[in-house]
Amino acid sequence: MTVRAPDQAAIAAGAQALAAGRLVGFPTETVYGLGADALDPDAVASVFRAKGRPTDHPLICHVADAAGAEALVAGMTPAARALADAFWPGPLTLVMHRAPAVPDAVTGGRDTVAVRVPAHPVALALLGAFGGPVAAPSANRFGRPSPTRARDVVEELGDAAAIVIDGGPCAIGIESTVVDMTTDPSQVLRPGRISAAQLSQVLGRPVAARASGPARAPGMLESHYAPGARVEVVDDPARAVQRAMAFSTAGEHVAVLAPGPLSDVPPGCTELGPAGSPDDYAARLYAAFRRADAEEVQVIIAVPPPAEGIGVAVRDRLARAAAGR
Ligand code: TXA
Ligand code: MG
Repeated sequence: MTVRAPDQAAIAAGAQALAAGRLVGFPTETVYGLGADALDPDAVASVFRAKGRPTDHPLICHVADAAGAEALVAGMTPAARALADAFWPGPLTLVMHRAPAVPDAVTGGRDTVAVRVPAHPVALALLGAFGGPVAAPSANRFGRPSPTRARDVVEELGDAAAIVIDGGPCAIGIESTVVDMTTDPSQVLRPGRISAAQLSQVLGRPVAARASGPARAPGMLESHYAPGARVEVVDDPARAVQRAMAFSTAGEHVAVLAPGPLSDVPPGCTELGPAGSPDDYAARLYAAFRRADAEEVQVIIAVPPPAEGIGVAVRDRLARAAAGR
């Protein structure tokens, strides 16, 4: 695969590759995606193969504008239209009833489809040049942290993509908010930069902050977004330092990640932070995981940001990274 600077020629080459049924790594404001022509079931199948992702985990269709979304769904409800008007282009994915044109390969055979308009000039240029919907999961192998830099895509997927367009580091750094518009009330299936409170405010009625019922969003497995290192989440900074000390004494290579500076970190412990505000924490989280892997860290002790705004989503990703390793 070749990594290309985000110029007109790269956008044209990306659009051509998509039209030829090939895969393209591209930047969005959240994380990098691995894109395929959403209406080409063979191309979509190759996305699942490249990621090692189970085929019943549906993909998000990326479109250039709300009109592109309309073509994929069985009518946008007034509520969906209100959220699209308020937040697109942006880090919000709407799950709606699908139109017949959407292949089963994209939706895992479900009667719903997830759609978003990304707020990144390179993504929008690619979508414009291609002229159709692009199915794109995060461009990582199944279960791993999402890529937030072009080189992460190369590291994750080797030669699976025909090209990767380098748009620099992703500003948000964690995946979009996914909200199910087919239930009443609407419910957040995956937290992100846009909170349930922001959605409720636009709609003038409550939106459930988390999904009820099992497996509402396949792919939201407990264990996910995980680095090679074991992750332990510890709320209290002093307690986090104690835990780092305990692992360090036991001879393990430990790293710490926290919103602010930690005192008395044991010698030999890798400091992945301080990660700063919740927004900074989100922007740095996956790169910190990758750095830990590169340095062969065995345990990451993470002090999460406060559970406000994007902090809710960061805590969700940390909990999933901590699960089952
Ligand atoms: O920020 C993002 O959303 C990134 C960038 C590339 O756009 N994409 C991304 O895609 O995170 P992926 O495939 O890694 O995650 C898609 C999420 C999964 O949790 C999946 O279960 C959910 O969206 N999803 C997709 N279609 C769905 C559907 N029809 N019903 C319920 N959940 C769905
Ligand atoms: Mg993903």
